[in-house]
Amino acid sequence: MAPTIPTLKLNSGADMPQVGFGLWKVDNGICADVVYNAIKTGYRLLDGACDYGNEKECGEGVARAIKDGLVKREELFIVSKLWPTFQDPEQVAPVVKKQLADWQIDHFDLYLMHFPGALKFVDPSVRYPPGWHYDGKSQIVKSKTTIQETWRAMESLVDQGLTKAIGVSNFQAQLLYDMLRYAPTLQVEHHPYLVQQELINLVKSEGIQMTAYSTFGPASFLEFHFKHAEKLVPLMQDPTVLSIAVKHDKKPSQVLLRWVTQRGIAVIPKSTNPEFMAENLACCTFDLDEEDIKQITAKDANIRFNQPHNYFETDKMWIFG
Ligand SMILES: NC(=O)c1ccc[n+]([C@@H]2O[C@H](COP(=O)([O-])OP(=O)(O)OC[C@H]3O[C@@H](n4cnc5c(N)ncnc54)[C@H](OP(=O)(O)O)[C@@H]3O)[C@@H](O)[C@H]2O)c1
Repeated sequence: MAPTIPTLKLNSGADMPQVGFGLWKVDNGICADVVYNAIKTGYRLLDGACDYGNEKECGEGVARAIKDGLVKREELFIVSKLWPTFQDPEQVAPVVKKQLADWQIDHFDLYLMHFPGALKFVDPSVRYPPGWHYDGKSQIVKSKTTIQETWRAMESLVDQGLTKAIGVSNFQAQLLYDMLRYAPTLQVEHHPYLVQQELINLVKSEGIQMTAYSTFGPASFLEFHFKHAEKLVPLMQDPTVLSIAVKHDKKPSQVLLRWVTQRGIAVIPKSTNPEFMAENLACCTFDLDEEDIKQITAKDANIRFNQPHNYFETDKMWIFG
């Protein structure tokens, strides 16, 4: 039987499952099956994005799961994201409608601004998903749209019933302070090598719900051959994590996810392996000791993986500068 998943209350009043399923880098060829299996395993939150290039296949997996009676639409919590090239206010609703059509649903449960820093619009008929570069190769072309203008357009998505809640991703404290009165939810990279304690303190004190991505740290970035990811001890082989896992008779991956969830933060691990999928979902079925949490937190090294200049040479995109 699938484990019970705790929920976190969003500012919108909605309950968000604290453990969800990540969809980045799930290949198109297997994505519908992976989504179907994730739902069958017991996942209810699915974390997608235009940029992942697999929303159509995600939709196929969801449609099949609903058709087969595994789940009802209202039991799912579907998250998607607005790519920077769609941040001009007039582009927001059209792209959300396209994304919803891909998912074969009529609303998202949560829709996030994927990154701050609006980029010049690229028409979906030219390239979709558009990626970072205006010419599809190397050119970064900014848009003059402000975050507030994009946010207003996102608020109107809620009014139109296209999403139940809205939030931001990859925003840091300075921008969040500016946005506080909009009461967003926040999705950021968070693992023992990038703790960002001050950001966590801020979201806790302001009642913003936070979701951690890439919770296994370097694991997700080895396929890009990032040198700094390859040099680090994989978190699932870290001696501290391993000894805590042995103590609780759990997997190192479950310890890493529990370290996040026990501090009131949501997780969205991605795995195409059915065994890992089930283990990850069961990460809230035990408790770490305070001392375990302290020891893992002490690994903080302020190392970030998911930032544009790790993927391509640029003198323009410094989102976390
Ligand atoms: N907002 C953003 O900008 C942003 C950025 C990055 C990610 N995200 C979201 O966060 C989700 C999770 O982050 P992520 O995909 O970067 O990384 P992650 O979930 O930390 O790690 C995924 C990697 O760990 C492996 N893995 C998963 N569970 C495992 C287990 N129990 N034991 C051993 N290995 C395991 C997976 O391989 P296998 O598939 O082979 O098992 C994959 O290589 C994404 O899928 C996406 O939805 C959002």
